[in-house]
Amino acid sequence: MADRAKQLYIQTVGCQMNLLDSELVVGALRKHGYELTDAVGRADVVLFNTCSVRQHAEDKIYSALGRLKHRKRKNPELVIGVLGCMAQKDQELIFRRAPHVDLVAGPGQLRRVPELIEQVERDRERQIAVSLPRTGGSRQEVTDSFDEYDPDRMAAMRPLPFQAFLRIMMGCDKFCTFCIVPSVRGPEQSRPPEAIIAEAHKLAGEGCLEITLLGQTVNSYRVKAADGRTYRLSDLLAAIHDIDGIRRIKFITNFPRDMSDDLLDAVRELPKVSPYLHVPAQHGSNEVLKRMKRGYTVELYEEMLARVRERLPHAAVSSDFIVGFCGETDREHELTSDLVRRCRFKNSFVFKYSPRPGTRAFDSLPDDVPEDVKKLRNNELLAIQNQISLESNRGFVGQTVEILVEGPSKSSAKADSESDNGPVQLTGRTHDDRIVVFSGNERLAGTFAQIRIDAVTPTTLIGSIVSQDLCPMPIELPSEVHA
Ligand code: SAH
Ligand code: F3S
Repeated sequence: MADRAKQLYIQTVGCQMNLLDSELVVGALRKHGYELTDAVGRADVVLFNTCSVRQHAEDKIYSALGRLKHRKRKNPELVIGVLGCMAQKDQELIFRRAPHVDLVAGPGQLRRVPELIEQVERDRERQIAVSLPRTGGSRQEVTDSFDEYDPDRMAAMRPLPFQAFLRIMMGCDKFCTFCIVPSVRGPEQSRPPEAIIAEAHKLAGEGCLEITLLGQTVNSYRVKAADGRTYRLSDLLAAIHDIDGIRRIKFITNFPRDMSDDLLDAVRELPKVSPYLHVPAQHGSNEVLKRMKRGYTVELYEEMLARVRERLPHAAVSSDFIVGFCGETDREHELTSDLVRRCRFKNSFVFKYSPRPGTRAFDSLPDDVPEDVKKLRNNELLAIQNQISLESNRGFVGQTVEILVEGPSKSSAKADSESDNGPVQLTGRTHDDRIVVFSGNERLAGTFAQIRIDAVTPTTLIGSIVSQDLCPMPIELPSEVHA
């Protein structure tokens, strides 16, 4: 066979952590001579970076694996790997359900992926690398088994040079009863501030304009640094704010109880920090919140939100909700609807409860809300939220907003076949995280543009370009508006 670079195909599902993990794996494999391909048929190595948060995400991966069975039979040299949360959760079960898989590596073992692929190629034997279960040793031992590999990051390997995720925390210790994350991503660990700030400098040096700090409960960040000082998220925001070149800083996801005033003040006082807070409430009934072990009441959530609205009247707040959790009654569901009506979130992600083996709810609470009821409640809640999102977006019609242009929208990328220079449908986000689409030249990607909003839907602002900003200095907004 002619000497050619080995081809890597990777499919990523799930959250931003997974996108970042895939970037790291791809970067490492490129260093080992691999090239990315978007055609699974040309690949020498096929990797799935997986999610375990809901059953549906796992089903999708198992069916994708099923579709590869035939290909593997025709080409036994093909290496198939399952990475991420489902790898940590299902472990050997993956080999039993999909015997043509060669490699399983949990989220705490991704640094080893290049070496494991080589081993598969050499020995033609299955490889598995997973971290300890939460009860598999002392806290230190379990923590150590979840390897931190962000320092290996190569900024040049990012999909988009002007946007980057930056992990500040790993794992979670909250153990909400529905959630698999603490089991599959391990104990909560905050990365040292020096490492985070150094990474932010590196990213800025590579032309990054927007950094999104990542953590399961990003606002619980707290570290005693080498200089003896305690760093909170607000301190990190201030330090990153000082970095030339960085123009936007976001952070996700917040835990309601840890929404401290110093953080809200940082958002208010640091103009580069996006006035956008994702603070999942999960439910509107205290009884359900107790069964979820969320550690707060509806009253406490609303008190937190009142503080947010008072200190940051222009900020957009979004939430997550689970409908159909164990034992949820009609009345309890109504309480969630009421909360959504009162809180006026910019948007909410609504999920039907999906029982996850390995969680406390799975072991001790019955999944007793029928699927059709879950579906009904899901649609009901979405309809309420959509109406609120629409009203909130309507406030922007006729206004001009500044967006960071990300590139062609998905539908336009598909439709676009040959033209290089003609206008296409582009997408970007406002400082407060609203999605904007407009018609423009693809070369605008990675610039800030002023867009006049002509129409809105519950999820999108639709506008036309007023001007673009190609200079890398922050500019004053003539007429910034917020709903
Ligand atoms: N703190 C994490 C939460 C990860 S899970 C974060 O970064 O957002 C994301 C969302 O999925 C949760 O907020 C919750 O609303 C939902 N979720 C988690 N476990 C679930 C389950 N078992 N069934 C349905 N939805 C779930
Ligand atoms: Fe999951 Fe609750 Fe942590 S939702 S990620 S256990 S805060």
